Amino acid sequence: MTVIGILSAKGGVGASLVATNLGCVLAGYGQTLLLDLNPGSGADDLLLNLSPQRSWADLLPVVKEVSPKHLQLIIAQHPSGLNFMRAPDAWLNDVDWQAAVQLLGYLADENEWLLLDMPTGKPSVTQNVFSKMDIALIVTTADPPALRASGHLIKSLPADLRDQSGLVVNQITRRHPASPAEIARSLEIPLLAALQPDLRAVGYQVSFGNPCVSDGRSSFGRGVVLLAKRLRKAVAGRKELGHAPAIKNASIES
Ligand SMILES: Nc1ncnc2c1ncn2[C@@H]1O[C@H](COP(=O)(O)OP(=O)(O)OP(=O)(O)O)[C@@H](O)[C@H]1O
Ligand SMILES: [Mg+2]
Repeated sequence: MTVIGILSAKGGVGASLVATNLGCVLAGYGQTLLLDLNPGSGADDLLLNLSPQRSWADLLPVVKEVSPKHLQLIIAQHPSGLNFMRAPDAWLNDVDWQAAVQLLGYLADENEWLLLDMPTGKPSVTQNVFSKMDIALIVTTADPPALRASGHLIKSLPADLRDQSGLVVNQITRRHPASPAEIARSLEIPLLAALQPDLRAVGYQVSFGNPCVSDGRSSFGRGVVLLAKRLRKAVAGRKELGHAPAIKNASIES
């Protein structure tokens, strides 16, 4: 029942690596479904070494009557327990996003965690998907072009979602002139994770679909495990108290 959007303002910053690894970890704590919402360019199936024949777009014509049987035809299950729906081959603008939002409502009710790997820098096309998110994770690298674009993206979020968003700084080292905390402060958003470059484990995942989190020696994997812990902390108590996730209290600096 917690919907997490994984967003990025610039291509190639690591959003899909975060989404796939986070999905594998959260699947250990409750039914988790990852949707690759990158029509025409999605590759989460490759990052997970899964090959589902159908995509979530095949559900859109029957969105008013979706049943568990329909889901069975679309979902591929990863050995971690993560359920996955791949992106359609059609392009972004060819998707009926209104029907997709209806589908997300149904899927959110059916799962403990619903992760949405969002298309990069297309908030105008996917704006209505924001209404379904409880949390937005903004994934960025620490270079000036990515940071400036991330600033624009954060400002473009609806106010209530902006209050429930957190930053994931990827590929950052100690040699970087600004610390992850300083970057988060400048973007006025809580810091949820700082992930290191990890050529070996990330390269292995990109080439063979073996998630970093299943490799105990992966610093990227360990960083995502910590991110999952913070997210679980942020949503804990939500069921009893009915309040929004406490992203600020879960940030690295709190
Ligand atoms: N921590 C890291 N260590 C090493 N390489 C990384 C790391 N993070 C990302 N990369 C590199 O960046 C590439 C892009 O990652 P990924 O596909 O997750 O980005 P993305 O933001 O989803 O891109 P797109 O905009 O295409 O959807 C990876 O294939 C990998 O080569
Ligand atoms: Mg991606």
